[in-house]
Amino acid sequence: MEINQSDNRGNWSSKVGFILAAAGSAIGLGNIWAYPSKVADNGGAAFILIYILCVFLVGFPIMVSELTIGRKTGKNPVGAFKAFKFSPHFKWIGFWGIVCGFMILAFYNVVAGWTFSYVFEEIFHYFGNEPLKNWFADLGNGHKNAIFSAFFMLLTIAIITGGVAEGIEKATKIMMPMLFAILIIMIGFVFTREGAVEGLVYYLKPDFSKITFDLFFKAMGQAFFSLSLGMGALITYGSYLNKKSNIPEAAFYVTMSDLAIAFLAGLLIIPAMFVAHHNGVNIFDQHGNLLSSTSLVFTALPDLFHSMQPFIGLVSGVMFFLLLSMAALTSTISLLEVPVSYVIDEFKWKRKRAAIGIGLAVLSLSLVISYDLSLIDLFALLFNDIGLPLGGLLISIFLAYVWKTNNAMAEIRSGYSEVDNSFFGKLWPFMVKYVSPLLIGIVFFQTIYSLFS
Ligand code: TRP
Repeated sequence: MEINQSDNRGNWSSKVGFILAAAGSAIGLGNIWAYPSKVADNGGAAFILIYILCVFLVGFPIMVSELTIGRKTGKNPVGAFKAFKFSPHFKWIGFWGIVCGFMILAFYNVVAGWTFSYVFEEIFHYFGNEPLKNWFADLGNGHKNAIFSAFFMLLTIAIITGGVAEGIEKATKIMMPMLFAILIIMIGFVFTREGAVEGLVYYLKPDFSKITFDLFFKAMGQAFFSLSLGMGALITYGSYLNKKSNIPEAAFYVTMSDLAIAFLAGLLIIPAMFVAHHNGVNIFDQHGNLLSSTSLVFTALPDLFHSMQPFIGLVSGVMFFLLLSMAALTSTISLLEVPVSYVIDEFKWKRKRAAIGIGLAVLSLSLVISYDLSLIDLFALLFNDIGLPLGGLLISIFLAYVWKTNNAMAEIRSGYSEVDNSFFGKLWPFMVKYVSPLLIGIVFFQTIYSLFS
């Protein structure tokens, strides 16, 4: 089958550029906001264990699948499934992904707005201006949420309008190593405080009795979200890859850096919670489980910054929330790029018009969420925890049973000629055919079943 990549869509300027951009898409609020709260909510280390299983048995194989489909077809998710010409109905897989991405971006924006408003919370804390500090710290302030999510969306639109290589790559290059560095420094600091070691034990010592189907469901959803899978973001990013790139290697780097940042974020935030506990803050519910909620990052960390020497606390706090905002920005970019590339390819819109039109449509939804935060949980359940694994299941079934793994392997061979003799090449076809779809299927249908029974 011959599929021609359309020419003027842009390409990554370098291998490193691609890995950075894909890692930028992966690393974001999922790692630093969602992951530690889920760890805290779900029995600490038990969650990590299942999470790591989900990442390697399901996430990584599907990441390779998405990138391979993207590079083969050179298209957006909808166009990609059409380009194979098996049946026009497969385009609905891509379409479902676009819907999920749209809805996820709508709430992601609001949370991203919180991270940015905490830059100001830190500044006004330093200057002792309590009223302003409290205004910026208030997650429930609808007007403030609306302003900040609008700001975030406009920034995303501006970068998307700049095009592939320049916009996305430039934004990512500097910020990732800095985020890594500040996490390490803060971890160093938190372990000088009383109570941190207790947090470390909670984080790393698994309690196997906590492992349930529900835990699997949450870990699976988290793996898809954190690695940016299941909605075709990486089909889109793969479509900008050239034929010389080594797909499994790139996917491996992205997966490992995403996992590393999440792991470090947990290593910072869970001990920070226990330090707060040591200082008299109640962090347990009546069953002895860690109290957590979407606000964990926005309470445990400022507490920590405020306990430092004031000026150092200011610098650390501002740096941290700025970097987190930038990490969120490289993720919102990838979320918006998917529907944008769809209307560019399929309806021949200009990039600028596409970015503005779709960006503003998402923003209008973000504004609604700004005033009703309970929608975040609802959207996360429907479009993330259920929507993304469903998308991933369909993608892996398509690849394994419609396109067939040996055809996918032929595509991977371009850029990785020794793939057939590699550990990856021996294992991956088996994973996408059996292990990943089966695991998603079991977790998925068990959950649907328990939701409705
Ligand atoms: N992975 C990002 C994070 O962890 C969020 C994200 C960006 C995403 N693009 C995506 C999630 C595509 C699902 C699909 O913050």
